[in-house]
Amino acid sequence: MTPGARVAAAIGVIDAIRDGAAAEQALTNWARGARYAGSGDRAAVRDHVFDVLRRWRSSAALGGGDDGRALLLGLLRGQGLDPDGFFTGEGHAPPPLSEAERAAGRAPKGAEARDLPEWLWPRFQAALGDGAERAAERLRHRAPVTLRVNARRMTREAAQAALAAEGILCRPVDDIKMALHVIKGERKISQSPLYLSGAVELQDASSQAAMEALDLPEGARVLDYCAGGGGKTLALAARIEGEWFAHDASARRMSDLPARAGRAGARVRLCETPDLQGLGLFDAVLCDVPCSGSGTWRRGPQAKWALTPEGLADLGRVQAGILGQAAALVAPGGRLIYSTCSVFIEENEHVVECFLSETPGWVQVFAKRWPISASGDGFFLAQLCHESDDSNQP
Ligand SMILES: C[S@@+](CC[C@H](N)C(=O)[O-])C[C@H]1O[C@@H](n2cnc3c(N)ncnc32)[C@H](O)[C@@H]1O
Repeated sequence: MTPGARVAAAIGVIDAIRDGAAAEQALTNWARGARYAGSGDRAAVRDHVFDVLRRWRSSAALGGGDDGRALLLGLLRGQGLDPDGFFTGEGHAPPPLSEAERAAGRAPKGAEARDLPEWLWPRFQAALGDGAERAAERLRHRAPVTLRVNARRMTREAAQAALAAEGILCRPVDDIKMALHVIKGERKISQSPLYLSGAVELQDASSQAAMEALDLPEGARVLDYCAGGGGKTLALAARIEGEWFAHDASARRMSDLPARAGRAGARVRLCETPDLQGLGLFDAVLCDVPCSGSGTWRRGPQAKWALTPEGLADLGRVQAGILGQAAALVAPGGRLIYSTCSVFIEENEHVVECFLSETPGWVQVFAKRWPISASGDGFFLAQLCHESDDSNQP
């Protein structure tokens, strides 16, 4: 496909998204009908679509409208590319620009230029202060691709060398023991023997750093209360000998976990029963709660536009409910761990503070927020313990 044809395909996908389709579904539907498109074409169309989703408001301002054609026009202008090189009308490229389109468009301003919904900018400022501008800007760009090397399988250096031999070039991430940033060949990862054998996993650097910050005692019984695919448990199990239990309100979300744990060489017991009390108490309960995902919006940018104030308030209630239920499962001397991949105070500090004020006998021993950075996503983690055990360190 020519560069223009790729832009034309992206326009169609964006219009499908405007009509209500989820981004992945719209891309899949397009690819099904575009057998002529090679893997490079599919990747390029996907990049255009996700770039628009990250920069919807500024692209609409620059393109003078918010249909697919105007958004792609605005995106190209924002990227400093000449739209006439794409809107050629030749072959499968979109028709040339009209005079009206040439005259349309203006510089975006305020939250529009930051590509945030208006109501969210004050939340970014409240949570991140001077870092808010930088965080919003990061969300306008593609996310880094990061691997976690499974310490049970190999050293980071050995993994880096083996990946290089497969054409996947990486560099170690400073201060995170097992993390590798992929700098070339990321599209080969899903077929890489190292990946398929569980020697490396895809995991954001901040999630890795947060799990590294947890120093659980050897042999601990640990419950991952919101396990999903089990990424956090597998990161912990790779470096700590423990007894691992996984639970999720939606058992279906854990369906890949047994195979994934098997590949990683970890034993994780799935708890599909709602009666977790019957399993006894745990030395640590991790609540990696459902959240807005605001720290990860460069990966899933549609969520940035879908969140509402009511939705954020609902999430806060769900998060508080989970923390309260999980607290009852922590053994004396144990830890209650709360985490989100959001940067908002409402989902982090506020939830923990409310829990502490409403649940006597608990104290916070550790809390940290990882910013949205070039290295990793936004992430928050707090560790609580019973008041009588507050000599515990993280
Ligand atoms: C952020 S995701 C977990 C990601 C996972 N820990 C990982 O590292 O891959 C949150 C999970 O919480 C689950 N969940 C939602 N409400 C819940 C509840 N009330 N109790 C337990 N799990 C819940 C969701 O199904 C979802 O899988």
